[in-house]
Amino acid sequence: MNPIDIKIIKTLTDKNDYISGAKLGRTLNVSRNTIWKRIEYLRSLGYTIKAIPRKGYLFIGRPENITGQGLAAKLETSLIGKRILVFNDVTSTNDIAKDSAREGAEEGLVVIANRQSQGRGRRERNWDSIPGGLYFSILLRPRLSLDKIGKITLLAGISIVETLRRIYQLRVKLKWPNDVLIDGKKICGILTELSANVENVNYIVLGIGINCNQNTDLWSPQLKQIATSLNKAVGRNIDTTYLSKEILMDFERKYFSFIQGDFDQLIGLVKEYSSFLGQTVQIETTTETYLAKAVDINQEGALIVENQKGERLTLWSADVSMRKAVM
Ligand code: BTN
Repeated sequence: MNPIDIKIIKTLTDKNDYISGAKLGRTLNVSRNTIWKRIEYLRSLGYTIKAIPRKGYLFIGRPENITGQGLAAKLETSLIGKRILVFNDVTSTNDIAKDSAREGAEEGLVVIANRQSQGRGRRERNWDSIPGGLYFSILLRPRLSLDKIGKITLLAGISIVETLRRIYQLRVKLKWPNDVLIDGKKICGILTELSANVENVNYIVLGIGINCNQNTDLWSPQLKQIATSLNKAVGRNIDTTYLSKEILMDFERKYFSFIQGDFDQLIGLVKEYSSFLGQTVQIETTTETYLAKAVDINQEGALIVENQKGERLTLWSADVSMRKAVM
């Protein structure tokens, strides 16, 4: 850790009361601005440091393993994470969230696990869920028509892209419809599961898996080629409590505007952050695999591709998976 950071923590813990940024700066012989930047950095590592105008900074606590209470204490949301369940080991957080939904759990429930024995991804793929990753599910009960509901995966993807860009300054991209990439490698996958009847949605479970503190040296060469872990990109250990708090708060803001009917901005952002638009990709459906150019995302959130005969096709997220074309 940077010597200034160690001194900031020591000075704040010794004082055990508020100390102003100016005084802290004078004590450590650095500017107030440096103090502010280092405190932001320490917060990103999971240190809780309170700041009050004209009073200064107060040390509250050190980073710790993710706990429901720890997360709840930091989370400033009114819906998402109103109730939080944290497990050490579960089959799949999506299963727990779905069981809770069937038992009548309210919208906003968040289920988190340190490890999943049966973590799954789209198209029945396995999602390796060893400790070190962030695995969580959010229960939603939006009163929206089914055509809008499909966009919730994109909404979550945008929220993760923007949160990772903001807190770690990474050039993160969205791979339509449900992956988040860093330098072309997968860092996060989203699995949305839905229970609905013809008239309305009963519940949605939004399952999110993020590679955070995995030791990628232990991965197979094939996995290293297609995936990465946040600690590698950021260059330090990831505080999963802080990361989950930031994602849940960002997602809540976006979800509130979304359910109030603000859909237009979303597609613009999906296009802006998309990793493959304009490129030739390999499309895999349940029946065929072919090369096509990813041309656009339409207002409904579907991917428009142009196949090699020059025909334009509209692809819906549930039916396809897309990868970089190897030519
Ligand atoms: C994908 O990339 O296909 C989606 C992966 C989604 C993984 C998350 S981890 C939390 C939640 N529980 C699961 O079993 N899956 C999702």
